[in-house]
Amino acid sequence: MQANNQKIVVLGTGGTIAGESESADEGLSYKAAQRGISDLLKSASGSHLPLPEVLAACQFEAEQVAQLDSKDMDFETWTQLAKRCDHWLNQDDVAALVITHGTDTLEETAYFLSQVLNPSKPIVLTCAMRPANFKDADGPQNLRDALVVAASTKGPGVWLVAAGEIHHSQFVQKVHPTRLNAFDSGETGAAGRVENDKVQWVKTFNMPSPNLKLHVSQLPLPAQWPWVEIVMNHVNASQKHVDALVNAGVQGLVLAGTGNGSVSSQMKESLLRAQTAHVQVRLSSRCNQGAVIPTSSHVFDASGALSPVKTRVALLLDIMSKQQNH
Ligand code: SIN
Repeated sequence: MQANNQKIVVLGTGGTIAGESESADEGLSYKAAQRGISDLLKSASGSHLPLPEVLAACQFEAEQVAQLDSKDMDFETWTQLAKRCDHWLNQDDVAALVITHGTDTLEETAYFLSQVLNPSKPIVLTCAMRPANFKDADGPQNLRDALVVAASTKGPGVWLVAAGEIHHSQFVQKVHPTRLNAFDSGETGAAGRVENDKVQWVKTFNMPSPNLKLHVSQLPLPAQWPWVEIVMNHVNASQKHVDALVNAGVQGLVLAGTGNGSVSSQMKESLLRAQTAHVQVRLSSRCNQGAVIPTSSHVFDASGALSPVKTRVALLLDIMSKQQNH
């Protein structure tokens, strides 16, 4: 799809890409979410480099939806972001959306958007590992690459562009706390690359089918979202925290199981008790590659290849969708 003569809307939510440190030499200690989205857009399409051909005829519109460190991302901001995406996607002159976001919870936001929007146009998230005033800031190039992908992507869907790689929201995870290419799509691999303002798609990449769980317009008020937590199996995993969560009213539990979704006998008993108390339990694996393959020894529904944090998003939406249909 070519998006020339069309508008790309760039939505800012904060993160390191908008962060500032005390000096241009300090890349690790900084405050996220300091610069506005219009400034970020200016530095990505700055005068030092001519705009790539694919962007030359595009118009850009910037909107600040939020300004936060993504460790503090919340249901209110998610709802607001999804509503603004829905608004812009419905405008005929808008070809694509780009969202700037902190790296820490980006994969959760990307997956959430993919489940509450049914975009016929691309949504491309981007981010940075270094603050905006760092001498070698990666944000401007990442944002520029994201704009290029938005203007020339092969199809709709929710994507992440960072460090020259294009990842699909279904598979991408942050896998490194500090290095520049902090994202990975495990066994599926990246969907493509951006080099010198040109997009190269991996020919063997298969687009996952869109899976709308609950349209943004059907989301309840943020305060009414269900309470869903993640519990992990590990050596000497106890049942005390599961029982405490159930007693406190948790509505959903995601088990980050060991290996192919295994769980200690003690924790299994407490999760079965939780299920009897009508708490929804979903199984995922704490391994960061591969999918849980269901076997006869599994007693909880498995999430396939979704990571524990994405399984939590899926469970939140499942519970809300069931509540809507009652
Ligand atoms: C954040 O996630 O907002 C801070 C960290 C980052 O963007 O790398």
